[in-house]
Amino acid sequence: MELMRILLCVSLAICAAHAARVVCYMDSRARIRQGTGKFEAPTDLEPALSTCTHVVYGFAVIDGATNKLVPLDEYQELDSGKGYYRAVTNLKKRYPGLNILLSVGGNADPDNDKYLTLDSRKAFVNSARILLRQYAFDGLDLAWQFPEIRPKKDRGTFGSIWHGIKKTFGYSHSHKDEKAEEHRDGFTKLVKDLKNSLKPDGLMLTLTALPNTDPSIYYDLKDIEPNLDFINVMAFNYTAPERKPDEADYPAALYQAGGRRHKSAESGKIYIFRNGTLSNKIILGIPTFGETWKLTEDSKISGVPPINTDGPGEAGPYTKTPGLLSYAEVCTLLPNSNVKTTAAPHLLRLVTDPSHKLGSYAFRFPQSDTEGVWVAYEDPDTAGYKGAYVKNKSLGGIAIWDLTLDDFRGVCNGERFPILKAAKRTIL
Ligand SMILES: *[C@@H]1O[C@H](CO)[C@@H](O)[C@H](O)[C@H]1NC(C)=O
Ligand SMILES: *[C@@H]1O[C@H](CO)[C@@H](O)[C@H](O)[C@H]1NC(C)=O
Ligand SMILES: *[C@@H]1O[C@H](CO)[C@@H](O)[C@H](O)[C@H]1NC(C)=O
Repeated sequence: MELMRILLCVSLAICAAHAARVVCYMDSRARIRQGTGKFEAPTDLEPALSTCTHVVYGFAVIDGATNKLVPLDEYQELDSGKGYYRAVTNLKKRYPGLNILLSVGGNADPDNDKYLTLDSRKAFVNSARILLRQYAFDGLDLAWQFPEIRPKKDRGTFGSIWHGIKKTFGYSHSHKDEKAEEHRDGFTKLVKDLKNSLKPDGLMLTLTALPNTDPSIYYDLKDIEPNLDFINVMAFNYTAPERKPDEADYPAALYQAGGRRHKSAESGKIYIFRNGTLSNKIILGIPTFGETWKLTEDSKISGVPPINTDGPGEAGPYTKTPGLLSYAEVCTLLPNSNVKTTAAPHLLRLVTDPSHKLGSYAFRFPQSDTEGVWVAYEDPDTAGYKGAYVKNKSLGGIAIWDLTLDDFRGVCNGERFPILKAAKRTIL
């Protein structure tokens, strides 16, 4: 499919408009969310498929004992159980141009070490080809779990319960991989072996550069790029409440704020990848969720980041994850919300970013009956600007992480998947 698309694009003038890829991640674990947060494929996925060119099914994992690629949940996903893989790949019958990739890792695998010490490349490569073919996937996406860089030691002596327990969690340790070079070479070989094994079957191979992994350490771009169909760069989570509980900041800025050089797409990740790769193979990752921190009475009153906080914000009603809210959960808390709510006094103060360079945020200080919260999030407006950025820089497209956290029911303004759709409209 990918090849056909490219050939068409070479021969037809209209192809510029079709060249941009719209890569849509789907985290299959979202089927266990409650109420309207429950995302069940194929039903909830289908309304996105006239917009996506690629669906990335997340996530398969590595079996530590055999080094094989295996489903995260065998019972749910294989034909011998509930057949979720098949239900998703069967959608191609109704959307013939669609490509569906299976992604491995994505931080869904509890054990990071396997990604550095994969003992048998051969077992992994063979098992991947067999699994992909058996379930009619169009390729493999490597959301490889390289060690994350840790944030620098916190400045200041801001009083917070997090200071006490932070050491236990290891927040202030920065990562150092003594065998980085060996691990990089191992990955380069793996990419090559996979390419050789998948190519005869016409299967694609892509890379997802997860947030907070250092591309200059683990990716030998010059050597891996020719073997990859495209590279999804997750340009978000520059800061996150579980990594930096005592300071909130823009998590997915396009341009740098102040002197925070590495915390943006333009000055950080995208720059590094563009320096080493063909621009049209780089896909800009766009988040559909908000990152939340708890504000206290000591947080500065203006709300302007960076701002002192006291740990991850309260979990949302559907996602039930401290520090994270889906776009559908965020929009109901905003003052211009269309959603009828009984929570009027709890609405947040909204600060949009007319320049679109940093992103929107909203906040509320603690009151007697409610917790304080600071949330930075993507909305259709900022996502649309990112789409325009992709077009301006001639990047290869957008990658939405992920569909299950976009407003897939259209509760915010009646449109399903408003973030996906807004970003797609502007890359054309
Ligand atoms: C990004 O941050 C959110 C909120 O802190 C977290 O739940 C999520 O796992 C992170 N995603 C990735 C891919 O690191
Ligand atoms: C960009 O590429 C050049 C040439 O390969 C290299 O010397 C330079 O260090 C790279 N810069 C970054 C930021 O990666
Ligand atoms: C795209 O380029 C145009 C013309 O140079 C510029 O006016 C616009 O701000 C750019 N948009 C983005 C999102 O970079």
